[in-house]
Amino acid sequence: MPKRVRTAVFPVAGLGTRFLPATKALPKEMLTVVDRPLIQYAVEEAREAGIEHFVFVTGRNKGVIEDHFDRQFELETTLEVRGKTAALNELRKDLPSAGRTSFTRQQEPLGLGHAVWCARDIVGDNPFALLLPDMLFKGEPGVLRQMMDAYEETGGNVIAVEEVPEQDVSAYGVIARGDGPDSGFKITGMVEKPKREDAPSNLIISGRYILQPEVFTLLADQPRGAGGEIQITDAMQTLMQTQNFTGVKYQGQSFDCGSKIGFLTANVVYALDRDDIRDGFVKELRKLDLGDQL
Ligand code: G1P
Repeated sequence: MPKRVRTAVFPVAGLGTRFLPATKALPKEMLTVVDRPLIQYAVEEAREAGIEHFVFVTGRNKGVIEDHFDRQFELETTLEVRGKTAALNELRKDLPSAGRTSFTRQQEPLGLGHAVWCARDIVGDNPFALLLPDMLFKGEPGVLRQMMDAYEETGGNVIAVEEVPEQDVSAYGVIARGDGPDSGFKITGMVEKPKREDAPSNLIISGRYILQPEVFTLLADQPRGAGGEIQITDAMQTLMQTQNFTGVKYQGQSFDCGSKIGFLTANVVYALDRDDIRDGFVKELRKLDLGDQL
């Protein structure tokens, strides 16, 4: 049995320039899909997969993320006094227990690889999950749970992938697929943000990883790669020489909430999936009479 994955890292230091002015004072990870912030969906996905410790790599202006995962006595007392038990239970259910969160800062915006490296002391010599909260996944079970199933079989490193149209590959990390089924196949290569003609496939790295701690040693000396940033994909590519990487083409829907279209689509899909919202929302959408615009 491979060593259990208990810790997840959430890089949340990004500036969110694609969502300005909304993200001038508000961290992009706190943008809401229906009524929960993006970061909370990622934390819930991790918890479902058995994660016990949640590490947030933050930056300046990200303080509200820490507040979000803390008790709020004034609010809780008010809800209690007013008998709003459902709302109160919902708040409490979502909260990681005391001592099960860590926050560290990425002091300079040097890239995703550098953000991950900033978590090295907290993670220690253990395998860990890495979740990019911009990517929102809707699936049963969640993507990280599906990856854990593969990990329990193979150990090593596991990456979630999905197919995109060929013209979109340059915005992502792209992998080369070897043998095995969608639920766990060998990855034989990877490259960050390749030109379309250089991409080894149209299978992109979706923002969910299970990694072995040796990646930290590589990240420490990782030269800058695509976009002048320290890239986790480059360190993983080196790690592939000594460790196995398994790809999981997961079951479910994904929304790239780093883009406005993905974010808006996620809001519609998640709203339509909610028993308490669907009927009212559909009624309003019908009133908009979008017929010839769709
Ligand atoms: C990062 C990763 C990339 C991955 C993508 C998923 O890129 O470097 O490999 O495909 O997330 O969203 P970024 O979106 O930070 O440019």
